[in-house]
Amino acid sequence: MAGVTVDGVTESRTDRGYAAGLDAADPLAGFRCRFADDGRGLIYLDGNSLGRLPLATAERIAQVVREEWGSGLIGSWDHWMGLPARVGDLLGEHLLGAAPGQVAVSDSTTVNLYKLACAALDARPGRRVIVTDDDNFPTDRYVFQAIAAQRGCELRMIHTDMDSGLDEATLRAAVDSDTAVVSLSHVAYRSAALADMAAITDLVHASGAVMLWDLCHSAGAVPVQLDACGADLAVGCTYKYLNAGPGAPAFLYVRRDLQDRLRQPIWGWMGQRNLFEMGPDYDPVPGIERFTTGTPQVVGVVAAREGARLLAEAGIGRLRDKGVRLTEYLIALADAWLLPLGCSLASPRDPARRGSHVTVHHPRARQLCQALAARGVITDYRAPDRVRYGPAPIYTRFTDVWDAIDTTRQLLETDHVPAERAS
Ligand SMILES: Cc1ncc(COP(=O)(O)O)c(C=O)c1O
Repeated sequence: MAGVTVDGVTESRTDRGYAAGLDAADPLAGFRCRFADDGRGLIYLDGNSLGRLPLATAERIAQVVREEWGSGLIGSWDHWMGLPARVGDLLGEHLLGAAPGQVAVSDSTTVNLYKLACAALDARPGRRVIVTDDDNFPTDRYVFQAIAAQRGCELRMIHTDMDSGLDEATLRAAVDSDTAVVSLSHVAYRSAALADMAAITDLVHASGAVMLWDLCHSAGAVPVQLDACGADLAVGCTYKYLNAGPGAPAFLYVRRDLQDRLRQPIWGWMGQRNLFEMGPDYDPVPGIERFTTGTPQVVGVVAAREGARLLAEAGIGRLRDKGVRLTEYLIALADAWLLPLGCSLASPRDPARRGSHVTVHHPRARQLCQALAARGVITDYRAPDRVRYGPAPIYTRFTDVWDAIDTTRQLLETDHVPAERAS
């Protein structure tokens, strides 16, 4: 492995000092101390499941609870109303490439997928096919199965390789004049394979179908240009790279020119025109708020706002740049240390085709993950036989990556990874 000179000493990339040198030169290093740290020295590489707690968020939530709820009581709704769309604008501007008025924070990703897929189907009368892929996140596949069953539609499931990601030729062959909606993940949850949003959106539009993107593993990690790609619809969560906390509400995007033409299936009062008139019939507001449903989860929306502000300050360009460097470094160490010990890479090698995590295949991946956790290295297991390392560019250090792969190497070398017990 090539070396660099740090303080006059030439370090090999496999030396911990090399990683320390990268940390010392990291323009985002100062953000790490803005996250809660309980002093246990955890190597946390699971920010793509649940991001760390930003200190500002803890303070802001305490203030919302104590002052806005505790003291302001019902009067606080004066400024809480409209918060989902205002925070949506913040996400749109800094992370999603969406002009104002097209993003709202609302419900869960699962519920948003349901709302937008149904709205898209209704917008394409006469077409009865939903297309997705068999490597898509389970909730996406289940939601589309449910919609197909409820409406008597066809769910066309294309095959995607678990490691290399979507094959555009396979998708092209599956989309036709009967296709109403195509829905795919921009970054694959298991391998981090990154789809070409512009090319796929064009391909889907050429058939007259509506494209619905899942951005759960992209938002805050990979620059997204929804408007520039001509995207129709998108959903994503805020508890991963956006660090908004467990169960924080998701976001949804509906391109402006589609908003008044689409009608979602959950007719809640928060999407209603003049809602406090309590009118007899549903009459949705114009604009993005018609895609919201019931009372917003204010504390979660506030947490999403704080998370978005922090990422905006770091800048999505710098976050992506560091994400590429962290994952390149992780792969280099895995090549040097883990591949000779029975692992193989289960993510694309080309950084332009990869999101911000790296997945490694090992026949005893579940036990490896547990053994890593017992040594303070938090990754996650993904069926059937993969360990997912998820560095979050805003707070993960290069030394964390080094420590995680070094610990993995030690466990495999000393055979501290038990074999699967027969059940
Ligand atoms: C790609 C993807 N889509 C959807 C979801 C599910 O979202 P939710 O549980 O917020 O509905 C997840 C959760 O991890 C995910 O990774």
